[in-house]
Amino acid sequence: MNKKRFFVITSLVIAVNAISYYSEMSTTMAAKINAMKLYNKHCNACHDKKGKPTDFGKELGTTDFTDMHWQISATDEKIVKQITDGAPEKMMPFKENLSADEIGALVPLIRSFAKK
Ligand code: HEC
Repeated sequence: MNKKRFFVITSLVIAVNAISYYSEMSTTMAAKINAMKLYNKHCNACHDKKGKPTDFGKELGTTDFTDMHWQISATDEKIVKQITDGAPEKMMPFKENLSADEIGALVPLIRSFAKK
């Protein structure tokens, strides 16, 4: 094997290892996030424990997470964006209070409210 090729391959191996190391780290960090606790703390003025709007939430026109039509039409990206940036006059943004990992952890929780 010529030297240049050897160098390219070794660099690739190092890069791949580094990527898997960091992605493993972020999954372990995500596992430590208690999404239900975050939801109960930050969301439950408007979204109740079962994913339905609270009485206060109803006045604002809060989304019903048990509605299958909504579940199907909403992408994960849209959910993340809503939590991050909020909706004007309806829902406050959470980017100041929640990390990207915490917001990511809320997505499967919101999905779990879908009627089975
Ligand atoms: C002050 C009340 C309020 C709080 C607190 C609140 N929301 Fe909302 N949320 C709303 C309203 C109102 C809507 C409907 C907004 C709209 O139609 O754009 C909504 C919609 C959503 C949607 C659906 C967005 C879409 O694209 O259809 C998601 C997901 C969501 N909220 C998640 C959360 C999460 C997670 C939290 C807590 C971190 C939270 N909300 C806290 C009022 C609230």
